[in-house]
Amino acid sequence: MIKIAVYPGSFDPVTYGHLDIARRATNIFARLIIAVTSNQSKKTLFTITERVEMLKVVTRQMPKIEVISFEGLLVEFVMEQQAKVIIRGLRAVSDFEYELQLALMNRKLENAVDTVFLMPAEPYTYLSSSVVKEIVSKGGKAAEFVPPLIEQKLRQKFSLTKK
Ligand code: PNS
Repeated sequence: MIKIAVYPGSFDPVTYGHLDIARRATNIFARLIIAVTSNQSKKTLFTITERVEMLKVVTRQMPKIEVISFEGLLVEFVMEQQAKVIIRGLRAVSDFEYELQLALMNRKLENAVDTVFLMPAEPYTYLSSSVVKEIVSKGGKAAEFVPPLIEQKLRQKFSLTKK
């Protein structure tokens, strides 16, 4: 019986799409660890401490969720947590090639770990942290895409409001 799953990502910042995937995962697993880390090919807007803090606040009504940051290989973190499942959201075919590579490489590194893909609700299929950052940086509204706290933090980052 698989009880613990790890949902890794850069979460820069967390969106309603991520929260939708996390909620779906908690319907399947007893405990979900949201694992915040750095993606070597992305420079983040928020520090790891800020990303973890924001995730903790927006998931505080979700008792099955714990938010942890890690450095190093994902599969090693997953094994340390006594988990065997990685959760990833799959929005469109465009995500597939990258996600397939990640899943197969992780399995190659640690055969005991498998990746489970979950599809978000339709309104979130075209949503990404990058798009939200761009919208807010240009003065657009992001209320449909991120919780109010995250929109506020984005505005602060882009100096569009008082700190
Ligand atoms: O949200 P992202 O940026 O798409 O997440 C990618 C992430 C962080 C899950 C991936 O870059 C990762 O697992 N990084 C940890 C280092 C690692 O294990 N890399 C090997 C993966 S094959």
